[in-house]
Amino acid sequence: MFSTSIKMQSLKTKIAIIGAGPSGLLLGQLLAKKGIDNIIIERASGEYILGRIRAGILEQGLVSLLAEAGVDERMKKEGHIHDGFEIAHYGKRHRIDIKALTNGSTVMCYGQTEVTRDLMQARQSIGATTYYESSDVVIHEQNSNSPFVTFTKNGIEYKLDCDYIAGCDGFHGVSRQSIPKEKRNEFERIYPFGWLGLLSDTPPVADELIYCKTKRGFALASMRSSTRSRYYLQVPLTDKVEDWSDDAFWAELKKRLPEDVAEMLITGPSIEKSIAPLRSFVCEPMQDGRLFLVGDAAHIVPPTGAKGLNLAASDVSTLSKLLDKTYNGEEPDAVAKYSEIALKRVWHAERFSWWMSNMLHEYDDDNMNENETKTLERFMASELDFHLNYEEGKKVIAIQYVGTVSYTHLRAHETKANLV
Ligand code: APR
Ligand code: PHB
Repeated sequence: MFSTSIKMQSLKTKIAIIGAGPSGLLLGQLLAKKGIDNIIIERASGEYILGRIRAGILEQGLVSLLAEAGVDERMKKEGHIHDGFEIAHYGKRHRIDIKALTNGSTVMCYGQTEVTRDLMQARQSIGATTYYESSDVVIHEQNSNSPFVTFTKNGIEYKLDCDYIAGCDGFHGVSRQSIPKEKRNEFERIYPFGWLGLLSDTPPVADELIYCKTKRGFALASMRSSTRSRYYLQVPLTDKVEDWSDDAFWAELKKRLPEDVAEMLITGPSIEKSIAPLRSFVCEPMQDGRLFLVGDAAHIVPPTGAKGLNLAASDVSTLSKLLDKTYNGEEPDAVAKYSEIALKRVWHAERFSWWMSNMLHEYDDDNMNENETKTLERFMASELDFHLNYEEGKKVIAIQYVGTVSYTHLRAHETKANLV
């Protein structure tokens, strides 16, 4: 049994949110808009969080959610709407015209770091409480009617009483680990390569993103603005960032871009360079009593297809709606459906990201013999042929890239759950 020490400060809120990444901040903002008060507890500093570089392609559902949260002003000014993107297959460029293929859907190119900055500012301006640089966060009694969270900040211990706890603390956070192991079913695939990313203040090599499949490995030409580029190279997991000078990065990128694109590449010093492993991961269920897992705390997708943030935002959307129903008395037990509703969408995005990753990367599988390798190469060549040269195939990519498949699906699912 937990006993409160004399020194301990008592706090109270409706929703305790652990983690001030995009999931925690967006949830906090949407709940505040609905009059549901919340406190965020975050391990890192705000400055540290804004130093993390992540993907920057927002589906329309997320764009609408940011508008609903009242944090879309800067995005509308500085973000760029993309009507399509390219896939280059062994040097041949194919355009996926997402707008034409999806009856008008587009994506917004706006960095996750900027989304986070906008959310942080919005939270500050409404005066909502965030405990940054907190340590020893522990979740207690999520299966009782009075759960609480304890933590320490500046040497002071706190006890936060709440109705519900939202675990928005990413893959390495405490929330998922607070669900007993025997209640969790975890699914995982770790890919045998990573992405080396480089950010530079140079104009992007093209107006739209180019995903490149080459014999030397995958590459991606992306951007943050008309003056800032983001590029990626598939690298072996054994590579270290220190192995890659800027010159080596640019030289390899040039070899992987289609020739006419490589000629246009403007290089410059990196302002950030890092290697990220690729992982598919899902934890089922995404809740335990009054504790909910949201975003990276519950699932990870490989970055091919840029689903990470969009998926996190759809968890947030679902949870905020269910909490609203619970608090406004419409359906007191609505939150019990969270995991079931969220997981439908999660598996769609997981499958799409896994499939895009398989199709576009080069694999060295030591377990396969020469003939099996050749056979797999033929399968992949045919897969790419169908998806890049036929309208039906391109449509399959486009509707998933913009998120319409999962939105339509989710809407049907949400209607069933009386969420819309
Ligand atoms: N206590 C408090 N905060 C914690 C703890 C802890 N024990 N552990 C982690 N955190 C904080 C981290 O410091 C981080 O700021 O939780 C936050 C989690 O943020 P993210 O990892 O960005 O996760 P999420 O908000 O779900 O964002 C999802 O980020 O990683 C990408 O692809 C992903 O784009 C997606 C988005
Ligand atoms: C990025 O710009 O960082 C980015 C874009 C698209 C992806 C992955 C990453 O699929």
